[in-house]
Amino acid sequence: MNVKFSSQDALFFVEKLITDPRKADAEAALQTALNRTGRGNDFLGWITLPNDVTEADITRIEECAARMAAKSQVVVVVGIGGSYLGARAVIEALQHSFAPYVDGKFPHILYAGNNINEDYLHDLLDVLDTRDYSVVVISKSGTTTEPALAFRILKQHCEKKYGVEAAKERIVAITDKARGALKTLADKEGYPTFVIPDDVGGRYSVLTPVGLLPIAMAGFNIRQLLQGAKDMQKFVAENPKYEQNPILQYALIRNLLYESGLKVELLASFEPQLFYFIEWFKQLFGESEGKEHKGIFPAGAIFSTDLHSLGQYIQEGTRQMFETVLAIDAVHHRVNIPEDAENLDNLNYLQHRTIHEINQIARKGTCLAHVDGQVPNLCISVPEINEYHLGELIYFFEMSCAVSGYMLGVNPFDQPGVEAYKKNMFRLLGKPGV
Ligand code: PA5
Repeated sequence: MNVKFSSQDALFFVEKLITDPRKADAEAALQTALNRTGRGNDFLGWITLPNDVTEADITRIEECAARMAAKSQVVVVVGIGGSYLGARAVIEALQHSFAPYVDGKFPHILYAGNNINEDYLHDLLDVLDTRDYSVVVISKSGTTTEPALAFRILKQHCEKKYGVEAAKERIVAITDKARGALKTLADKEGYPTFVIPDDVGGRYSVLTPVGLLPIAMAGFNIRQLLQGAKDMQKFVAENPKYEQNPILQYALIRNLLYESGLKVELLASFEPQLFYFIEWFKQLFGESEGKEHKGIFPAGAIFSTDLHSLGQYIQEGTRQMFETVLAIDAVHHRVNIPEDAENLDNLNYLQHRTIHEINQIARKGTCLAHVDGQVPNLCISVPEINEYHLGELIYFFEMSCAVSGYMLGVNPFDQPGVEAYKKNMFRLLGKPGV
């Protein structure tokens, strides 16, 4: 188990509250999830998912990915919320920081159906006009408006560009096994389809084909990703006690901070490639805990970038926040800080250090400053960014979220509030039957 959790910079705020009965609450919440006795227990398929994915499932995903990748410069992943954030979190963490400018063996992954912006779609079609592409359309319900709209447009573009029959070879659907408009459409057109299991909700679905197929298409190793999650699943099963299990420690301490009046958790990383991992975290925790007028508001930041925008507020604004830093020990590349005899920029004192070392020191300095400013700091770290550690982190956060949600007293697996905007939008659009 390579995920390390540290709460030492939050203890000044909560140490006295970490009592044996509260530790027992966290342990009980874990058992509620593992024994499937709590609210939302028909959506706990993600708990054993890393082990449930079979060799045949993986092979089918890899073969489909290779087939699509071979004929595509670009793959458009169409989906919203849990139907795209997990894939994007992993792909953007692993890919070249300037992927669209680097030609490699694998297609570039672009995204659609996650907004309703007309210029965005226009510009996407512009790009697709001159490139070979495939489409992966993902929707568990098969009825979500944003991806359905985008897919209608992309389907017609694809059919016009390649012809109706050839377009069918370039489209894959990932949806429910039996229900929904997307399932009906995919069956009628004869698209290859992958199934999202009934007992896995959107935001917990990254280790189903929803995440695995796009990640494989982008050229990343889904076996390693699953292995990381599998090892974390085993760790959780073998470590049900608070003292041994950082998942329970994180879940309890964030609840204690919340009960002490800190209603916002800022997940911050000093690694910009984790931007979408933080977006995935925001959805996971926001949709799981934000209900019944309760729950921590999950926010995100990339440092040091956001230290020059949000930094002032974090340091001195309303005291309502704690910070969880998502850190890595090592990077993959070295960029030397060159010597400069003139030293007009006064940077010679850094000349023999690495950029990563300076980034790590920025992290320490930031933590000291924020603790001084009464912002408790938690830290979750992995040795480096790779498929295996991302798999561990995914399972770590999913289980933390379930335990934390049960401790909060909500159902972490439904999202009734998401319907409110849809009802209004459909009524205003004049959708038949609404
Ligand atoms: O986590 C969730 O359940 C949601 O974010 C969904 O993933 C999102 O609303 C998209 O739903 P669907 O996959 O049905 O199109």
